[in-house]
Amino acid sequence: MIYILDTADLGAIKHCNEFYPLAGVTTNPSIIAKAKTDFWPLVESIRAIIGPDKMLHVQTTREKAEDIVEEAKLLQERLGGEFYVKIPIGEEGLKATMMLKKLGIGVTMTAIFTPTQALMAAMAGASFVAPYVNRLDNIIGDGCEVVAQIVDQLSLYGSDCKVLAASFKNAEQVHKCASVGCHSVTVTDDILKALISHPMTDAAVAGFNKDWTGVYGEKTILDF
Ligand code: E4P
Repeated sequence: MIYILDTADLGAIKHCNEFYPLAGVTTNPSIIAKAKTDFWPLVESIRAIIGPDKMLHVQTTREKAEDIVEEAKLLQERLGGEFYVKIPIGEEGLKATMMLKKLGIGVTMTAIFTPTQALMAAMAGASFVAPYVNRLDNIIGDGCEVVAQIVDQLSLYGSDCKVLAASFKNAEQVHKCASVGCHSVTVTDDILKALISHPMTDAAVAGFNKDWTGVYGEKTILDF
């Protein structure tokens, strides 16, 4: 499983980059706008925190294929490293994806809600497709079932495009996607934390500490 952080909060990125097996960061225009700051210093700071080897996915703000390509080239040039431009699925987006494939710039095709969209994106050359799990669940769809169908179809057609499931609101949705072989997920720091938290774990650790200090006080193994 590839874990990616879905935020532009620099504090959260610093923390998660240190404590979790993070493969990179995704953003979108809404996430960037939430930071209410200048675009370039923000995304360059994200790159500086995660370094060149981790993935940084930044979404285009343009709509015509040629404009998307122009923006993607600039983003790639300024952000360098493992960079992917996020492009919403659509005719212009597919055209841009095919053009960017020739230029060697990675594409994450986003705003995916159906397996047919995902398969088309993969055939156009996208490296990742990003289905929105919680947004589907919110309209009484089944986000994880859509992810499962996309995983199956990409495998059926021998595509090396990866599913980057997105738009999660709880750990259970992530677990269900992991269970169907989803390659990667992008989640908030709260969800990363929820994925490793359990009250029984807290109770077990408290018990170990109580038993140890009851006999050895504040001594650690290094003190023996
Ligand atoms: C990431 O690629 C998506 O843009 C993001 O996960 C959408 O999340 P939301 O549905 O919480 O806005």
